[in-house]
Amino acid sequence: MTDGYTAMHHAAEAAIAYRRDIATAHTTPVASYADIFAAFDAPVPETGGDPQAILAELIDRATPGIRAQTSPRFFGWVIGNSHPTGVAADWLAAAWGQNAANVSSAPAASAVEAVAVAWLLDLLGLPREASVGVVTGATVANFVCLAAARSAVLARLGWDVEADGLFGAPPVEVLIGADAHATVFSALKYLGLGAKRVRTIATDDLGRMLPSAFEAALKACAGPAIAIGQAGQICTGASDPFAEIAPLARNAGAWLHVDGAFGLWAQAAPARAAQTAGVELADSWATDGHKWLQTPYDCGFAIVRDAEAHARAMSVSASYLPPAAGPERDPSTYVPELSRRARGFAVWAMIRQLGRDGIAEMVERNCQVAAHMGETLAREPGITLVAEVPLNQFMVRFGDDDATTLAVIAQVQEDAVLYAGASQWRGAWVMRASVCSVATTMDEADVAIAAIIAAWRTVKHG
Ligand SMILES: Cc1ncc(COP(=O)(O)O)c(C=O)c1O
Repeated sequence: MTDGYTAMHHAAEAAIAYRRDIATAHTTPVASYADIFAAFDAPVPETGGDPQAILAELIDRATPGIRAQTSPRFFGWVIGNSHPTGVAADWLAAAWGQNAANVSSAPAASAVEAVAVAWLLDLLGLPREASVGVVTGATVANFVCLAAARSAVLARLGWDVEADGLFGAPPVEVLIGADAHATVFSALKYLGLGAKRVRTIATDDLGRMLPSAFEAALKACAGPAIAIGQAGQICTGASDPFAEIAPLARNAGAWLHVDGAFGLWAQAAPARAAQTAGVELADSWATDGHKWLQTPYDCGFAIVRDAEAHARAMSVSASYLPPAAGPERDPSTYVPELSRRARGFAVWAMIRQLGRDGIAEMVERNCQVAAHMGETLAREPGITLVAEVPLNQFMVRFGDDDATTLAVIAQVQEDAVLYAGASQWRGAWVMRASVCSVATTMDEADVAIAAIIAAWRTVKHG
């Protein structure tokens, strides 16, 4: 029988070997869900096993179904690189086995997280007094920020939503752009604000709210209001005109929340910061670590200007949980969970790894790669760049036809030189690509461009 430490070594070696070969890996898994399910499907083990044998079994059976999301030519969804330094720090978080709930249970995890979130506010140019909850991703960050918003707008009218709930409360109006991300509606659903009970604000051809429509909707609100803007539309990468809408929200007494899952990182790249100009005027911001900061999954940030409203909405107290003293910050004050992974180690490690310059260079390079890919593809007859490319997302369409576009995407995925997926934009199917990895260079982009053109010609010549 081996011991658990042998299994840890085995896992580390396999992980390192996997990542070393990632640039040449197939970008589509070679085994399907059904294959992998069949490989694992067995009755509950009646007896325990040998640690190294268990790890070997896991690696052998799962690897064929692992999607190469860390490939430099992975452009699906919006996925960061899970940078090796962040992964290594995350291994330590797991090995140290810290419950990063509070200062008393996990002093190092709490202190490192406090430093890392202060760095984050600095990098993103957000108010230094804002509170930050380190959560699992932007979906939960949106939920946390909107819980703080709900608390604050109702508290201004003397209503304690934490104590009394929403029954009998003054109705809260929610304003949201027509091209908002689906997960924001999930947050509204969780909070009892209603995913459908919203005023939808008209947007332009890049999915940005029209300030005149926003102003009119604010004027029509009768009671407390929460407005939800966006930094980084999932298809176009464009951001709302915050310099115009934030003062409108403030004058109307509305709370402005920004879903900035990836787009908020434009703030960290001086040449792109104009995209998000004025975003610092908002009241709360959701963003991800596992996208542009390249941390491993799962990592996101709920950032709130009004730290008291944030704490009111999330904090937990019990006699057996000693509260933090003085300036100490209990991580669980700002998140929905009590027991939680020490995510701050990987956040600290990734900011330390890339530094301010490295983050700016990566964001700018990713944006330039996206524009280069879109513009180069559009020079091929029959391929259209669907919208301009202000950030790191781009969309192309093939033969100006839905079926052809879907066929080219299927061909690209089968060829597995790169990965990009399908999306709908303004009622038509497009190939939507996201450039969001520190590993993606212009050279990798050129390999991907050649593969996409080859797939298009294969489909065209049928
Ligand atoms: C704009 C936007 N908001 C929210 C999310 C959800 O983020 P997560 O999957 O990290 O929860 C995404 C994911 O791509 C996104 O692009």
